[in-house]
Amino acid sequence: MTTTGDFGFIGGGHMGEALIKGLVQSGRAKPENIFVFDPAPLRTEHLQKTYGVTLAENNQALVSKAGVIVLAVKPQNVDDVLKAIGGVLNEDQLVVSIAAGVTLARIQGAIAARTPVIRVMPNTPALVLAGAAALAKGKYAGAEHLAVARNMFESVGLAVEVEEKYMDVVTGLSGSGPAYIFVLLEALTDGAVRLGLPRDQARLLAAQTILGAARLALETGDHPGRLKDMVTSPGGTTAAGLYALERGGFRGLVMEAVAAATLRCQELGAE
Ligand SMILES: NC(=O)c1ccc[n+]([C@@H]2O[C@H](COP(=O)([O-])OP(=O)(O)OC[C@H]3O[C@@H](n4cnc5c(N)ncnc54)[C@H](OP(=O)(O)O)[C@@H]3O)[C@@H](O)[C@H]2O)c1
Repeated sequence: MTTTGDFGFIGGGHMGEALIKGLVQSGRAKPENIFVFDPAPLRTEHLQKTYGVTLAENNQALVSKAGVIVLAVKPQNVDDVLKAIGGVLNEDQLVVSIAAGVTLARIQGAIAARTPVIRVMPNTPALVLAGAAALAKGKYAGAEHLAVARNMFESVGLAVEVEEKYMDVVTGLSGSGPAYIFVLLEALTDGAVRLGLPRDQARLLAAQTILGAARLALETGDHPGRLKDMVTSPGGTTAAGLYALERGGFRGLVMEAVAAATLRCQELGAE
């Protein structure tokens, strides 16, 4: 790959901003090497003021300046964007798309050259640099292209490579997953409020418990069952709580949620 280290963001909304923030704050890119085009002047002014990025006049101008082009527009805008830049991209550039449900074949089909493409499913915790992203390589993308994209998403959290056929499952797991956890957070909070704990303290303790449990699992690499057993003494409080969860079908329900979201993602992709 002979691309310059310059990044070009097509779309500077929530996710585009999260990535720009991650690249700049982690020192992986200099602000002057980041170009942005977004039709919303309020967005671009904000990005320029906050991160010092350079604004492009339009998407074609942006493509002529950057080596790594990030498609960070809504899925319904992807075809229009590709129509404008598909004939301008060359094979020394790299396209990274985060548009949910937009396949590699669809993107590749709209680009005249053999430009490598990487498709990514990020999630909203990227906004606080704690995202989980799955990356899939297109047919012209090699390990060096994956490394560039991985580096970008590691600046806002964790990144794993998957085959594209798993993107719908990833959407049902880590893409939609934050919402499941927010429901859990609310439920834990309400459970304690019901028993008299003030809401502010309940919410803080519940949120930190979720964060702490996740960090413990990630940092030790231990099986979650083992970590659960560590807090479950015979005849104790946690065992009583776990029994209530199992009786209510908690595990099955969570598995159903992942399956339902995956199915919905497949349906939306087919429309
Ligand atoms: N947010 C998430 O949690 C999440 C998770 C996974 C994947 N994604 C994917 O990330 C992508 C971006 O999501 P988002 O939440 O960042 O959306 P967003 O906040 O709406 O940002 C998209 C931005 O692109 C701009 N835009 C529209 N048409 C454009 C064009 N032709 N050229 C350049 N910019 C254009 C929009 O401007 P206007 O508002 O003026 O139209 C908006 O500022 C989506 O495809 C989504 O599927 C998001």
